[in-house]
Amino acid sequence: MNGTVGDVVALVPAAGKGLRLGHDEPKAFVCLGTDSLLKRSVDGLRASGAVDRIVVIVPVDLLDAARGLVGDDVTVVAGGRERTDSVRAGLAVIGGASVVLVHDAARALTPPALIARVVAEVRAGRPAVIPVLPVVDTVKEVDLMGAVIGTPDRSRLRAVQTPQGFDADVLRRAYAAATDISTDDAGLVERIGETVHTIVGDALAFKITTPHDLLLAEALL
Ligand code: CTP
Ligand code: MG
Repeated sequence: MNGTVGDVVALVPAAGKGLRLGHDEPKAFVCLGTDSLLKRSVDGLRASGAVDRIVVIVPVDLLDAARGLVGDDVTVVAGGRERTDSVRAGLAVIGGASVVLVHDAARALTPPALIARVVAEVRAGRPAVIPVLPVVDTVKEVDLMGAVIGTPDRSRLRAVQTPQGFDADVLRRAYAAATDISTDDAGLVERIGETVHTIVGDALAFKITTPHDLLLAEALL
């Protein structure tokens, strides 16, 4: 089945430790205002009106805690060591879905309209769709000692957000072929030679990574 008909399943990787945020609990369980990042991300997916089923992937010791946060209509499974392992665990329970979104729990303020736009592009026949923004800083490549090796042309660089949307068969093939980890899912799709299409992202889809990001999110609420 291709992505133009059939169910849309959203996978929400939420099994990271949140080391850079530095809270006691894993990042997805940290509160932004009254609600956890995980609950806010799940609510955003629901509000998009474009998602039929949601699967969240959490640390194995927090399965029950997550079930309490997200509601009975959401499937909760245990993640793994790397993000790639966690997404793979989610992919194992998508059944016959035709479109898969992968959306970081850490992007808790992502506008529902962006989520709907990604789904619409996959429905229109794109095998893989990612929201991106231009890079504002100049980016340097450095060696292990910190010496600069090169300066890529900034006008051709983009910072990548989620949700990333895929024809389900394409993402299944990408994960079946993956031999190591990737920081995003589109990276694995690129490796099997499928074209990844970019759309304009949204500043509100930023990833909450550091204490500074959490402060910014609180100010934006
Ligand atoms: N993630 C996951 N499983 C992992 C690692 C990450 O599901 N083994 C999820 C995180 O929960 C997060 C998203 O992937 O929603 C993006 O990862 P990142 O921002 O790096 O979160 P953490 O890995 O939790 O943070 P850190 O790298 O600072 O420890
Ligand atoms: Mg991480």
